[in-house]
Amino acid sequence: MEKIFITGCCGYIGSHTCVELLNAGYEIIGLDNFSNSKPIVLDKIKEITGKDIKFYEGDMLDKELLNKIFIENEIDCVIDFAAFKSVGDSVSKPIEYYINNVSSVLTLLETMKNNKVKKLIFSSSATVYGTPEKVPITEDCRIGGTTNPYGTSKLYVEGILQDLYKSDNEWDICIFRYFNPVGAHPSGLIGEDPNGVPANLMPYIAKVATKELEYLSVFGADYDTPDGTGVRDYIHIVDLAKAHVKGVEKLLKESNGLFIYNLGTGKGYSVLDMINAFEKVNSVKVPYKITARRAGDIAKCYADSSLASKELNWCATLTLEDMCKDAYNYARKEIVNEKN
Ligand code: NAD
Ligand code: UD1
Repeated sequence: MEKIFITGCCGYIGSHTCVELLNAGYEIIGLDNFSNSKPIVLDKIKEITGKDIKFYEGDMLDKELLNKIFIENEIDCVIDFAAFKSVGDSVSKPIEYYINNVSSVLTLLETMKNNKVKKLIFSSSATVYGTPEKVPITEDCRIGGTTNPYGTSKLYVEGILQDLYKSDNEWDICIFRYFNPVGAHPSGLIGEDPNGVPANLMPYIAKVATKELEYLSVFGADYDTPDGTGVRDYIHIVDLAKAHVKGVEKLLKESNGLFIYNLGTGKGYSVLDMINAFEKVNSVKVPYKITARRAGDIAKCYADSSLASKELNWCATLTLEDMCKDAYNYARKEIVNEKN
Protein backbone atom coordinates (compact mmCIF):
# COMPACT_ATOMS: atom_id res chain seq x y z
CA MET A 1 0.00 0.00 0.00
CA GLU A 2 1.12 3.55 -0.66
CA LYS A 3 3.02 5.45 2.00
CA ILE A 4 1.78 8.85 3.09
CA PHE A 5 4.04 11.24 5.00
CA ILE A 6 2.08 13.45 7.39
CA THR A 7 3.63 16.47 9.07
CA GLY A 8 1.86 17.63 12.25
CA CYS A 9 0.34 14.14 12.53
CA CYS A 10 -0.48 14.45 16.23
CA GLY A 11 -2.46 17.69 15.96
CA TYR A 12 -6.21 18.11 15.72
CA ILE A 13 -6.69 17.60 11.98
CA GLY A 14 -3.58 15.42 11.56
CA SER A 15 -4.66 12.83 14.14
CA HIS A 16 -8.14 12.44 12.65
CA THR A 17 -6.64 12.18 9.17
CA CYS A 18 -4.22 9.47 10.35
CA VAL A 19 -7.22 7.48 11.59
CA GLU A 20 -9.09 7.74 8.28
CA LEU A 21 -6.03 6.94 6.17
CA LEU A 22 -5.11 3.94 8.34
CA ASN A 23 -8.70 2.71 8.11
CA ALA A 24 -8.47 3.07 4.34
CA GLY A 25 -5.35 0.85 4.36
CA TYR A 26 -2.57 3.41 3.80
CA GLU A 27 0.78 3.26 5.59
CA ILE A 28 1.67 6.40 7.48
CA ILE A 29 4.96 8.02 8.30
CA GLY A 30 4.36 10.85 10.75
CA LEU A 31 6.36 13.83 12.01
CA ASP A 32 5.53 16.12 14.91
CA ASN A 33 7.52 18.28 17.35
CA PHE A 34 4.70 18.36 19.92
CA SER A 35 4.69 22.15 19.97
CA ASN A 36 0.89 21.93 20.07
CA SER A 37 0.09 18.28 20.75
CA LYS A 38 0.99 15.39 23.01
CA PRO A 39 2.69 12.00 22.39
CA ILE A 40 -0.31 10.17 23.88
CA VAL A 41 -2.21 10.94 20.66
CA LEU A 42 -0.12 8.21 19.00
CA ASP A 43 -1.52 5.64 21.47
CA LYS A 44 -5.04 6.89 20.87
CA ILE A 45 -4.67 6.55 17.09
CA LYS A 46 -3.54 2.95 17.69
CA GLU A 47 -6.46 2.33 20.08
CA ILE A 48 -8.97 3.50 17.46
CA THR A 49 -7.47 1.78 14.41
CA GLY A 50 -5.46 -1.12 15.84
CA LYS A 51 -2.58 0.09 13.65
CA ASP A 52 0.72 1.87 14.26
CA ILE A 53 2.17 4.74 12.34
CA LYS A 54 5.93 5.07 11.82
CA PHE A 55 6.64 8.15 13.88
CA TYR A 56 9.52 10.63 13.91
CA GLU A 57 9.71 13.28 16.66
CA GLY A 58 11.22 16.47 15.32
CA ASP A 59 10.84 19.76 13.54
CA MET A 60 9.86 20.33 9.93
CA LEU A 61 12.53 23.04 9.81
CA ASP A 62 15.18 20.35 10.39
CA LYS A 63 16.49 19.71 6.87
CA GLU A 64 18.63 16.73 7.85
CA LEU A 65 15.80 14.98 9.62
CA LEU A 66 13.42 15.57 6.72
CA ASN A 67 15.96 14.19 4.27
CA LYS A 68 16.51 11.13 6.47
CA ILE A 69 12.75 10.50 6.55
CA PHE A 70 12.55 10.59 2.75
CA ILE A 71 15.61 8.35 2.39
CA GLU A 72 14.36 5.80 4.93
CA ASN A 73 10.84 5.57 3.49
CA GLU A 74 9.56 5.31 -0.02
CA ILE A 75 7.06 8.12 0.31
CA ASP A 76 4.33 8.42 -2.32
CA CYS A 77 2.49 11.51 -1.12
CA VAL A 78 2.82 14.19 1.59
CA ILE A 79 0.16 15.94 3.66
CA ASP A 80 1.43 19.08 5.39
CA PHE A 81 -0.44 20.02 8.57
CA ALA A 82 2.52 21.31 10.63
CA ALA A 83 1.99 24.99 11.39
CA PHE A 84 1.09 27.41 14.17
CA LYS A 85 -2.57 28.43 14.03
CA SER A 86 -3.41 31.02 16.65
CA VAL A 87 -4.55 34.26 15.01
CA GLY A 88 -3.90 36.30 18.18
CA ASP A 89 -0.39 34.91 18.74
CA SER A 90 0.49 35.53 15.12
CA VAL A 91 -0.09 39.25 15.60
CA SER A 92 2.35 39.42 18.52
CA LYS A 93 4.88 36.92 17.08
CA PRO A 94 4.95 37.44 13.30
CA ILE A 95 8.55 36.28 12.83
CA GLU A 96 7.91 32.97 14.60
CA TYR A 97 4.76 32.49 12.54
CA TYR A 98 6.39 33.17 9.19
CA ILE A 99 9.32 30.90 10.05
CA ASN A 100 7.12 28.05 11.21
CA ASN A 101 4.39 28.39 8.60
CA VAL A 102 6.33 29.53 5.53
CA SER A 103 10.07 28.69 5.90
CA SER A 104 9.21 25.18 7.06
CA VAL A 105 7.17 24.59 3.90
CA LEU A 106 10.15 25.68 1.77
CA THR A 107 12.31 23.16 3.62
CA LEU A 108 9.71 20.49 2.97
CA LEU A 109 9.34 21.36 -0.72
CA GLU A 110 13.10 21.40 -1.28
CA THR A 111 13.45 18.00 0.38
CA MET A 112 10.55 16.61 -1.63
CA LYS A 113 12.11 17.90 -4.83
CA ASN A 114 15.53 16.43 -3.99
CA ASN A 115 13.91 13.08 -3.30
CA LYS A 116 11.66 13.21 -6.37
CA VAL A 117 8.41 13.15 -4.43
CA LYS A 118 6.04 15.63 -6.05
CA LYS A 119 2.61 14.95 -4.59
CA LEU A 120 1.45 17.27 -1.81
CA ILE A 121 -1.73 18.20 0.03
CA PHE A 122 -1.46 21.55 1.81
CA SER A 123 -3.70 22.78 4.65
CA SER A 124 -4.89 26.25 3.82
CA SER A 125 -7.82 28.14 5.26
CA ALA A 126 -10.92 30.11 4.37
CA THR A 127 -9.07 32.99 5.99
CA VAL A 128 -7.28 33.54 2.61
CA TYR A 129 -10.52 35.05 1.25
CA GLY A 130 -10.22 37.97 3.74
CA THR A 131 -13.58 39.69 3.61
CA PRO A 132 -15.27 37.43 1.04
CA GLU A 133 -16.58 39.12 -2.09
CA LYS A 134 -19.67 36.88 -1.94
CA VAL A 135 -21.18 33.98 -0.03
CA PRO A 136 -21.25 31.08 -0.55
CA ILE A 137 -17.57 31.39 -1.41
CA THR A 138 -16.30 29.62 -4.54
CA GLU A 139 -12.65 28.81 -5.13
CA ASP A 140 -12.35 31.47 -7.81
CA CYS A 141 -13.32 34.28 -5.41
CA ARG A 142 -10.64 36.91 -4.88
CA ILE A 143 -8.08 36.00 -2.23
CA GLY A 144 -6.08 38.45 -0.13
CA GLY A 145 -6.83 41.19 2.34
CA THR A 146 -5.86 38.97 5.27
CA THR A 147 -5.75 40.86 8.54
CA ASN A 148 -3.17 38.90 10.52
CA PRO A 149 0.19 37.11 9.95
CA TYR A 150 -1.44 33.67 10.35
CA GLY A 151 -3.79 34.32 7.45
CA THR A 152 -1.04 35.97 5.43
CA SER A 153 1.26 32.98 5.99
CA LYS A 154 -1.37 30.74 4.32
CA LEU A 155 -1.68 33.21 1.45
CA TYR A 156 2.11 33.25 0.94
CA VAL A 157 2.34 29.47 0.87
CA GLU A 158 -0.48 29.27 -1.66
CA GLY A 159 1.51 31.71 -3.84
CA ILE A 160 4.70 29.65 -3.42
CA LEU A 161 2.84 26.50 -4.48
CA GLN A 162 1.43 28.27 -7.56
CA ASP A 163 4.94 29.40 -8.54
CA LEU A 164 6.34 25.93 -7.95
CA TYR A 165 3.71 24.33 -10.16
CA LYS A 166 4.31 26.89 -12.89
CA SER A 167 8.03 26.12 -12.80
CA ASP A 168 7.56 22.35 -12.95
CA ASN A 169 4.18 20.93 -13.81
CA GLU A 170 5.16 17.41 -12.86
CA TRP A 171 3.97 18.35 -9.37
CA ASP A 172 0.54 17.27 -8.15
CA ILE A 173 -0.60 19.74 -5.53
CA CYS A 174 -3.90 19.93 -3.73
CA ILE A 175 -4.67 23.00 -1.64
CA PHE A 176 -7.50 22.48 0.81
CA ARG A 177 -9.14 25.61 2.19
CA TYR A 178 -10.77 24.54 5.43
CA PHE A 179 -13.74 26.40 6.81
CA ASN A 180 -14.42 25.84 10.54
CA PRO A 181 -13.48 22.32 11.63
CA VAL A 182 -15.16 21.34 14.91
CA GLY A 183 -16.12 18.28 16.96
CA ALA A 184 -14.09 15.18 17.69
CA HIS A 185 -13.80 11.51 16.84
CA PRO A 186 -16.98 9.75 18.09
CA SER A 187 -14.82 7.51 20.33
CA GLY A 188 -13.91 10.61 22.34
CA LEU A 189 -10.27 9.48 22.25
CA ILE A 190 -8.96 12.30 20.04
CA GLY A 191 -10.25 15.84 19.57
CA GLU A 192 -9.33 19.48 19.82
CA ASP A 193 -7.49 20.35 22.97
CA PRO A 194 -6.27 23.96 22.88
CA ASN A 195 -3.86 25.17 25.54
CA GLY A 196 -5.34 27.76 27.91
CA VAL A 197 -8.56 29.63 27.20
CA PRO A 198 -9.86 28.66 23.74
CA ALA A 199 -9.98 31.39 21.10
CA ASN A 200 -12.44 29.53 18.86
CA LEU A 201 -16.16 29.18 19.37
CA MET A 202 -16.80 25.44 19.68
CA PRO A 203 -14.06 24.57 22.21
CA TYR A 204 -15.16 27.63 24.23
CA ILE A 205 -18.79 26.49 24.24
CA ALA A 206 -17.67 23.01 25.35
CA LYS A 207 -15.73 24.46 28.29
CA VAL A 208 -18.71 26.56 29.36
CA ALA A 209 -20.92 23.46 29.18
CA THR A 210 -18.49 21.50 31.37
CA LYS A 211 -18.42 24.50 33.76
CA GLU A 212 -14.67 25.07 33.33
CA LEU A 213 -15.58 28.54 32.07
CA GLU A 214 -18.45 30.63 33.40
CA TYR A 215 -20.06 32.00 30.26
CA LEU A 216 -19.51 32.56 26.57
CA SER A 217 -19.01 36.06 25.22
CA VAL A 218 -20.91 36.36 21.94
CA PHE A 219 -18.78 38.75 19.91
CA GLY A 220 -21.36 41.11 18.43
CA ALA A 221 -25.08 40.78 17.71
CA ASP A 222 -25.31 43.66 15.24
CA TYR A 223 -23.99 41.99 12.10
CA ASP A 224 -25.96 41.88 8.90
CA THR A 225 -27.07 38.27 9.52
CA PRO A 226 -30.49 36.78 10.42
CA ASP A 227 -29.96 37.03 14.21
CA GLY A 228 -27.14 39.59 14.18
CA THR A 229 -24.39 37.16 15.25
CA GLY A 230 -21.55 35.92 13.03
CA VAL A 231 -22.28 33.14 10.55
CA ARG A 232 -19.72 30.40 9.77
CA ASP A 233 -19.49 27.07 7.98
CA TYR A 234 -18.78 24.50 10.71
CA ILE A 235 -17.60 21.12 9.45
CA HIS A 236 -17.24 17.91 11.46
CA ILE A 237 -13.57 16.97 11.84
CA VAL A 238 -14.23 13.39 10.67
CA ASP A 239 -15.78 14.65 7.43
CA LEU A 240 -12.78 16.93 6.97
CA ALA A 241 -10.35 14.06 7.62
CA LYS A 242 -12.16 11.89 5.05
CA ALA A 243 -11.65 14.57 2.40
CA HIS A 244 -7.90 13.96 2.78
CA VAL A 245 -8.36 10.29 1.88
CA LYS A 246 -10.12 11.44 -1.30
CA GLY A 247 -7.37 13.99 -1.92
CA VAL A 248 -4.68 11.32 -1.59
CA GLU A 249 -6.61 9.01 -3.95
CA LYS A 250 -6.82 11.79 -6.51
CA LEU A 251 -3.16 12.73 -6.34
CA LEU A 252 -2.01 9.11 -6.52
CA LYS A 253 -3.92 8.40 -9.68
CA GLU A 254 -3.94 11.82 -11.31
CA SER A 255 -0.81 13.21 -12.77
CA ASN A 256 0.07 16.82 -13.00
CA GLY A 257 -2.16 19.45 -11.66
CA LEU A 258 -2.70 22.07 -9.00
CA PHE A 259 -6.14 21.72 -7.46
CA ILE A 260 -7.83 23.99 -4.94
CA TYR A 261 -10.89 22.93 -2.95
CA ASN A 262 -13.04 24.55 -0.30
CA LEU A 263 -13.89 22.11 2.45
CA GLY A 264 -17.08 23.05 4.23
CA THR A 265 -20.69 21.93 4.42
CA GLY A 266 -22.10 24.85 2.45
CA LYS A 267 -24.36 25.75 5.39
CA GLY A 268 -23.91 28.81 7.53
CA TYR A 269 -24.80 28.75 11.22
CA SER A 270 -24.80 31.72 13.57
CA VAL A 271 -23.24 31.83 17.03
CA LEU A 272 -26.73 31.62 18.56
CA ASP A 273 -27.57 28.61 16.32
CA MET A 274 -24.47 26.90 17.69
CA ILE A 275 -25.36 27.62 21.31
CA ASN A 276 -28.94 26.40 20.81
CA ALA A 277 -27.90 23.21 19.03
CA PHE A 278 -25.28 22.44 21.68
CA GLU A 279 -27.75 22.94 24.53
CA LYS A 280 -30.44 20.85 22.88
CA VAL A 281 -28.31 17.87 21.79
CA ASN A 282 -26.42 17.61 25.05
CA SER A 283 -29.16 18.74 27.47
CA VAL A 284 -26.83 21.31 29.04
CA LYS A 285 -26.89 25.04 29.60
CA VAL A 286 -24.44 27.35 27.85
CA PRO A 287 -24.77 30.73 29.57
CA TYR A 288 -23.73 33.62 27.34
CA LYS A 289 -23.51 37.41 27.20
CA ILE A 290 -23.57 39.57 24.11
CA THR A 291 -20.38 41.66 24.01
CA ALA A 292 -18.60 43.90 21.50
CA ARG A 293 -17.47 42.64 18.11
CA ARG A 294 -14.03 40.97 17.97
CA ALA A 295 -11.54 42.94 15.88
CA GLY A 296 -10.96 41.43 12.44
CA ASP A 297 -14.18 39.35 12.44
CA ILE A 298 -16.44 39.24 9.41
CA ALA A 299 -20.22 38.81 9.32
CA LYS A 300 -20.63 35.77 7.08
CA CYS A 301 -18.30 33.09 5.78
CA TYR A 302 -19.50 29.86 4.26
CA ALA A 303 -18.37 27.65 1.42
CA ASP A 304 -19.60 26.53 -1.89
CA SER A 305 -18.06 23.05 -1.73
CA SER A 306 -19.53 21.73 -4.94
CA LEU A 307 -16.14 21.54 -6.67
CA ALA A 308 -14.84 19.11 -4.02
CA SER A 309 -18.04 17.14 -4.32
CA LYS A 310 -17.72 16.93 -8.10
CA GLU A 311 -14.00 16.31 -8.44
CA LEU A 312 -13.21 14.40 -5.24
CA ASN A 313 -16.53 12.63 -4.89
CA TRP A 314 -16.60 13.91 -1.31
CA CYS A 315 -19.17 15.75 0.70
CA ALA A 316 -19.74 16.36 4.37
CA THR A 317 -22.41 14.07 5.79
CA LEU A 318 -22.29 14.67 9.55
CA THR A 319 -24.74 17.16 11.04
CA LEU A 320 -24.50 20.09 13.39
CA GLU A 321 -25.95 17.78 16.06
CA ASP A 322 -23.09 15.28 15.49
CA MET A 323 -20.56 18.12 15.82
CA CYS A 324 -22.05 19.29 19.13
CA LYS A 325 -22.47 15.78 20.55
CA ASP A 326 -18.92 14.71 19.72
CA ALA A 327 -17.36 17.98 20.92
CA TYR A 328 -19.09 17.61 24.32
CA ASN A 329 -18.26 13.88 24.59
CA TYR A 330 -14.57 14.68 24.05
CA ALA A 331 -14.57 17.64 26.45
CA ARG A 332 -16.07 15.52 29.24
CA LYS A 333 -13.59 12.69 28.66
CA GLU A 334 -10.72 15.19 28.78
CA ILE A 335 -11.79 16.35 32.24
CA VAL A 336 -11.73 12.73 33.47
CA ASN A 337 -8.30 12.19 31.86
CA GLU A 338 -6.87 15.34 33.42
CA LYS A 339 -8.06 14.27 36.89
CA ASN A 340 -6.41 10.82 36.55
P1 NAD B 1 -2.76 21.73 15.47
O1 NAD B 1 -1.97 22.79 16.14
O2 NAD B 1 -3.69 20.93 16.30
O3 NAD B 1 -1.78 20.72 14.72
C1 NAD B 1 -0.57 21.12 14.14
C2 NAD B 1 0.48 20.07 14.55
O4 NAD B 1 1.73 20.41 13.96
C3 NAD B 1 0.71 20.03 16.07
O5 NAD B 1 0.70 18.68 16.50
C4 NAD B 1 2.08 20.67 16.26
O6 NAD B 1 2.76 20.12 17.38
C5 NAD B 1 2.75 20.34 14.94
N1 NAD B 1 3.78 21.29 14.49
C6 NAD B 1 3.68 22.65 14.41
N2 NAD B 1 4.81 23.15 13.90
C7 NAD B 1 5.64 22.11 13.64
C8 NAD B 1 6.95 21.98 13.11
N3 NAD B 1 7.66 23.06 12.75
N4 NAD B 1 7.48 20.75 12.99
C9 NAD B 1 6.80 19.64 13.36
N5 NAD B 1 5.56 19.70 13.88
C10 NAD B 1 4.98 20.92 14.02
O7 NAD B 1 -3.53 22.41 14.25
P2 NAD B 1 -4.69 21.80 13.36
O8 NAD B 1 -5.97 22.43 13.77
O9 NAD B 1 -4.58 20.33 13.31
O10 NAD B 1 -4.30 22.44 11.96
C11 NAD B 1 -3.56 21.71 10.99
C12 NAD B 1 -3.28 22.60 9.80
O11 NAD B 1 -4.53 23.06 9.26
C13 NAD B 1 -2.48 23.86 10.11
O12 NAD B 1 -1.65 24.14 9.01
C14 NAD B 1 -3.55 24.93 10.24
O13 NAD B 1 -3.05 26.20 9.97
C15 NAD B 1 -4.55 24.48 9.19
N6 NAD B 1 -5.91 24.97 9.44
C16 NAD B 1 -6.53 24.68 10.62
C17 NAD B 1 -7.82 25.16 10.86
C18 NAD B 1 -8.53 24.86 12.16
O14 NAD B 1 -9.55 25.48 12.41
N7 NAD B 1 -8.09 23.94 12.98
C19 NAD B 1 -8.46 25.95 9.89
C20 NAD B 1 -7.79 26.22 8.70
C21 NAD B 1 -6.52 25.72 8.49
C1 UD1 C 1 -10.93 31.92 13.26
C2 UD1 C 1 -9.83 32.73 12.64
C3 UD1 C 1 -9.42 32.11 11.33
C4 UD1 C 1 -9.00 30.66 11.52
C5 UD1 C 1 -10.12 29.90 12.21
C6 UD1 C 1 -9.63 28.54 12.59
C7 UD1 C 1 -10.14 35.01 13.48
C8 UD1 C 1 -10.52 36.41 13.12
N1 UD1 C 1 -10.24 34.12 12.49
O1 UD1 C 1 -12.02 31.92 12.39
O2 UD1 C 1 -8.34 32.82 10.77
O3 UD1 C 1 -8.72 30.03 10.27
O4 UD1 C 1 -10.49 30.59 13.42
O5 UD1 C 1 -10.63 27.79 13.15
O6 UD1 C 1 -9.74 34.74 14.59
N2 UD1 C 1 -17.15 33.75 18.64
C9 UD1 C 1 -17.82 34.25 19.73
N3 UD1 C 1 -17.28 34.04 20.96
C10 UD1 C 1 -16.10 33.35 21.16
C11 UD1 C 1 -15.44 32.83 20.02
C12 UD1 C 1 -15.98 33.08 18.77
O7 UD1 C 1 -18.88 34.87 19.62
O8 UD1 C 1 -15.66 33.20 22.32
C13 UD1 C 1 -17.76 33.95 17.30
C14 UD1 C 1 -16.88 34.73 16.34
O9 UD1 C 1 -17.12 36.10 16.45
C15 UD1 C 1 -17.33 34.14 14.98
C16 UD1 C 1 -17.70 32.69 15.32
O10 UD1 C 1 -17.93 32.67 16.74
O11 UD1 C 1 -18.49 34.79 14.53
C17 UD1 C 1 -16.60 31.69 14.99
O12 UD1 C 1 -15.38 32.12 15.57
P1 UD1 C 1 -14.05 31.22 15.56
O13 UD1 C 1 -14.37 29.86 16.04
O14 UD1 C 1 -12.98 31.97 16.28
O15 UD1 C 1 -13.71 31.07 14.02
P2 UD1 C 1 -13.48 32.20 12.89
O16 UD1 C 1 -13.55 33.56 13.43
O17 UD1 C 1 -14.39 31.88 11.76
